[in-house]
Amino acid sequence: MDTKDQAFQQCINPQCRSEFDSRQVLFKCPQCGDLLDVRYNWEAIEVPKKLSDFANRWTTRSNRLDFSGVWRFRELISFCADEHKVSVGEGQTLLQPACGLAQDLGMNPRSLFLQYEGMNPSGSFKDNGMTAAFSHASMVGASASACASTGNTSASMALYAHSSNIKATVFIGEGKIAYGKLSQAMDYGGHTIQVAGDFDDCMRQVQDVCTELKIYLVNSLNPFRLEGQKTIMLRIIEGLGWEVPDWIIVPGGNLGNSSSFGKAFAELKALGLIDRVPRLAVINATGANTLTELVNDKGLRWNNGDVDQQVIDAYYANLDATHYRADTIASAIEISRPVNLKKCLRALDVCDGVVLDVTDEEILDAKAQIGAYGLGCEPASAATIAGLKHLLAEGTIDKDARTACVLTGHLLKDPDATVNYHSKMGREFSNPPVQVENDLQKIIALMK
Ligand code: F0G
Repeated sequence: MDTKDQAFQQCINPQCRSEFDSRQVLFKCPQCGDLLDVRYNWEAIEVPKKLSDFANRWTTRSNRLDFSGVWRFRELISFCADEHKVSVGEGQTLLQPACGLAQDLGMNPRSLFLQYEGMNPSGSFKDNGMTAAFSHASMVGASASACASTGNTSASMALYAHSSNIKATVFIGEGKIAYGKLSQAMDYGGHTIQVAGDFDDCMRQVQDVCTELKIYLVNSLNPFRLEGQKTIMLRIIEGLGWEVPDWIIVPGGNLGNSSSFGKAFAELKALGLIDRVPRLAVINATGANTLTELVNDKGLRWNNGDVDQQVIDAYYANLDATHYRADTIASAIEISRPVNLKKCLRALDVCDGVVLDVTDEEILDAKAQIGAYGLGCEPASAATIAGLKHLLAEGTIDKDARTACVLTGHLLKDPDATVNYHSKMGREFSNPPVQVENDLQKIIALMK
């Protein structure tokens, strides 16, 4: 299949709207510097008439593209020919009913679902995006890739780069990177560079390095990566028998996920494949709450694409002036300058979204509650349930509203956070090991 007439890149700025070929490697609009979207000429693509038609692919899952939870929806992300598509079996993730947790939260037990993206090959949702980014990288003949990362992007990049024979360089900040993640990048053969700075510094550096050395950037600034992440929403809809939930809740870091979810729903609605769009809640950690402050305190909105840049510039100038550094136990979302801010504002507009922040204590308690029902996740993912508690309490989300929380990363990504919570912190949901002498009777006595 030749896809060259099916997709193109377009600047998100309505004053600019410049278009570029899908074979160009860009991560910002060369005309105005704004973010880029992948756009499709839908009339040139044979999109199934209804979403349930995608279910037919399950019967042909010995075909690796049909097996992939991303590429089985390939007509909705049609920017490259099949021969370039890279897959390591991503997206085999389930929408899990969370009856017990729902009851704990005072919800209707049939209303709450967890979309467990920790089940991906590298243990996080990033694989949904990386399969798409590396397929594009392979299509354009890239030989080297790079990213800045709080850990999961680097793990996923190193995995996919290896599979597509592309060199991978990771930029990490000093300090907080969970060892589960760092170990993956090293083991998968990624070249790791530790910059004396934080994630935001790394993000700035990697963009310049990639421009100067013509390296393929796989951070979520890359519009092709976000196309793969749209399929997380398709799988939620699939898990609900092809029905749209009332609410999607997602943690917010660099804001790639929320941006891609909004794009997915806007496209599905325009194509007539869904009849309504769910609402979206993006949850920040209090120690990294740029989005919350800009939206809730400064009133920043998408405003048909005419985003008030002065508000953003003044906010960032103040971060610089106060030498602000994001700080949260949820290291994956310890980001104060989210690169996809404007696209996220657009997603909030599409999905009538809300934004809020939750403390580290709330995140850790929610994480333990999720874990107690058997799935487990890393701290950033638990921001969803911590946020849901607020949204239920203030009446924004009704106890009967069908709500899907995206658990973005696996529990084993950050075992330190888990062990510290259970064994040292003595909090509400702590489950510490019980000490006992090496004596059979004493052990038996403990178990009665
Ligand atoms: N959850 C996890 C587990 C993550 O790793 C990330 C981002 C997010 C949530 C936030 O998602 O950026 O789409 O808003 N991790 C990036 C990384 C920054 O480098 O691994 P977002």
